[in-house]
Order: sequence, then C-alpha cells, then structure tokens
Amino acid sequence: MKGFSSNFKSVLAAAFSVVTLFAALPSVAAAEEEDRPVIKVPRGGGRETFTKNCTTCHMPDGRGGQNEGGYGADLRVTKLSEDEVVKTITEGRQGKGMPSFKGMIDDEKIRMLAQFIKDDLRLKN
Ligand code: HEC
Repeated sequence: MKGFSSNFKSVLAAAFSVVTLFAALPSVAAAEEEDRPVIKVPRGGGRETFTKNCTTCHMPDGRGGQNEGGYGADLRVTKLSEDEVVKTITEGRQGKGMPSFKGMIDDEKIRMLAQFIKDDLRLKN
C-alpha cells in the first residue's frame, strides 16, 4: 500500500500547515495592536480648506505653534464646541493673531472646517 501511505503523508503535511497558519495568526494580530504612536491622517472635506487657509499658523496636524501673529492654538485639544469653533473662525480674535474669515470662506465651508477640527484633528485616546 505505497499509494496510501504517501497520500496519508501529504494529508498530514497539509493538516500541519493549517495548524501552523492558525498558530501564527494570533501573533500577527498582537503585533498590530502593539503600543506605537497612532499616526492619524485626517481626511474629509475640511482638509483642503484647512490646508489652504489655516496651516501656516496651525500646522497641518493642527498642533499650532509660534508665528508672527501670536501663538497659534493647538486645535487638536480645543475645548471649544463646534459652534464656538465656527464663531472663532468667522469672527477671528482681534489682537490675538487669529484672523476673521468672514466673507473669505463661506458659511458651509466654515461649518465643515469646524467638524474637521472636532472630528479629524482631535487627539483621541
Ligand atoms: C495668522 C495666523 C492664523 C491663521 C491663518 C489661522 N489662525 Fe486660528 N488662531 C491663531 C492664533 C494666534 C490663535 C490663538 C488666539 C488666542 O490666543 O486666543 C488661533 C486660535 C484659533 C482657534 C481657537 C482655538 C481655541 O481652542 O481657543 C480656532 C478654532 C482656530 N484658530 C481655527 C482656525 C482655522 C480653522 C483657521 C483657518 C480657516 C485658522 N484658525 C487660521 C492664528 C491663526
């Protein structure tokens, strides 16, 4: 029964590789959950408007920093509500370096920016 035994061997080999595969899976999953900085690439409609108008002072990720106008706020941790963000973008902060965008960005886009700041730039943990 030579045929049987070689068949049996290949069945064994196949079974073994399936077992190996499943044994390897959990460690792959574990590696993906490893503690490493979450690199968040913000997406969505607000990104383009933000890049065009805001990143010179607030940086592409919203972290802000020193600039000519003052210290650009860190938008990732803003405590303002969405409506307050809309108001801040619309009216600006006179004398504090945050310009008013009234008439430069339409209301709908300002709302989109506010959602973008609250949802996409926000640091989550
Ligand atoms: C010329 C630089 C400059 C530009 C351009 C600018 N900002 Fe600002 N922004 C600032 C500064 C400086 C502050 C902090 C003002 C203060 O100290 O109260 C600020 C504050 C803010 C705040 C308030 C944050 C908080 O938690 O109090 C929001 C929201 C904001 N900016 C959104 C925007 C958005 C959206 C844009 C683009 C449409 C933008 N800014 C463009 C300089 C800028």
